[in-house]
Amino acid sequence: MTPDSHNRGNFTSKIGLVLATAGSAIGLGNIWRFPVLTGQNGGAAFLILYIVCVLLLGIPLMVGEFMVGRHAQSNTAHAYSKLTNHKIFKNIGRFGVFTGWFILCYYIVVSSWALDYFIDAILGRFSKLSQTGDPQVYADYFQQFVSNPYIPTLYAIIFILMSHFVIIRGVKKGIEKFAKLMMPMLFIIMLVLVIFSFFTDGAKEGLSFLFKPDFSKIDFSTILIAMGQAFYSLSIAMGCLCTFASYFNKETDLVNTAFKVGAIDTLVAIMSGIIIFPAVFSAHFGVDSGASLVFIALPNVFQQAFANMPILGYAVSVLFYFLLVLATLTSVISLHEVPTAFLAEHFKISRKRSTTIVTITVCIIGSLCSLSMGSLSGLTICDKNLFDLFDYISGQVFLPIGGILIAIFVGWSMDKTIISNQLTNYGTIPGKGSTPIVFLLKYFIPVVTTLIFLSGLGII
Ligand code: PHE
Repeated sequence: MTPDSHNRGNFTSKIGLVLATAGSAIGLGNIWRFPVLTGQNGGAAFLILYIVCVLLLGIPLMVGEFMVGRHAQSNTAHAYSKLTNHKIFKNIGRFGVFTGWFILCYYIVVSSWALDYFIDAILGRFSKLSQTGDPQVYADYFQQFVSNPYIPTLYAIIFILMSHFVIIRGVKKGIEKFAKLMMPMLFIIMLVLVIFSFFTDGAKEGLSFLFKPDFSKIDFSTILIAMGQAFYSLSIAMGCLCTFASYFNKETDLVNTAFKVGAIDTLVAIMSGIIIFPAVFSAHFGVDSGASLVFIALPNVFQQAFANMPILGYAVSVLFYFLLVLATLTSVISLHEVPTAFLAEHFKISRKRSTTIVTITVCIIGSLCSLSMGSLSGLTICDKNLFDLFDYISGQVFLPIGGILIAIFVGWSMDKTIISNQLTNYGTIPGKGSTPIVFLLKYFIPVVTTLIFLSGLGII
């Protein structure tokens, strides 16, 4: 019996499986981080680089992780150690688990902002904030909130506790159902906002910033940022895809699923760009104003544009931040699950205990990251506060290293029969796209990713 010939799959329909995987991938990476990086790195040119990275690096790596996960049928750390005796490769899974935990520590800080803005939207605070329509009011409000020593930290802890109680009960049940409901809702709300953004004052400038490339802004560090963002957004090298794939059915076409997930994830990122950049230009903010675009430009636009239609404005802002919280919560749950499952299985401790360990460590480090936006902002390493440092190290260092290791492992060390069986479902499907995917994993990704990584950091 082959290791994956028994069906551990919990997903019952093809569409449910794609939506659940995309639902886990879609999060702050698409709605918050993508517009921030696009704004700071030249707009359309960055978008093109990003799409190239998704196609040539992200999707093949996703297929690679799917193959490992579905074949090994276990949590990420064990999946790699099951497949190889090589010391470095055995640890790829553990490195992914660590990266997931590391990202979670600062991810919950942005989650806390989303939660606060959701509450503000419900209380109708955006329209009360600026009677005069002065966009600066929103910038000041955001700054005051993130630098408050208690509230964001408290919200971050509340967020991780919400995930804690879901995780402690086990996450598999309900993911598919939840995704089938949430993803269409997310699309519809985003579509409404996209259409609406075409009619705002800043539409022309915003859309041309996002779609008219200026390649003079591109250098190796920009390529590294685009690559890191593609990995981040697709959840590559964080131990999550591999775990998800262990619940796939043996009929699941891995290449096709990776393409669909990649396409949905990229579409959501582009839609966020279409919503946010016109808003940024309408409010006359700098496109490179960083971490705050979703939290400054958008509330301003909600308030401005719907000044004549207060009820519609209220409803859309509540829905938008509700969806942001939901998309964030599903990502937090997936990120939380990876180290939790690893600790429980590796140290043979109860799930309750492993969840608690992860929750407490994330609360401690997450609080420090949150405070680094205010009272601890003086604490800098390489000119970055703790929050920015965590974002930088995860995106520009850990994820590229993880990607390189996964590609080398799958391309060079994994058994060829396993690869062929995984790509063709034991010869039952033609496995379209397998040859280029294997080529990319074997030659292109290790070389190109290493070059981009080293030159982006200024090492070569
Ligand atoms: N890809 C998610 C995002 O874009 C982050 C994430 C990583 C979520 C790993 C789950 C697991 O926000």
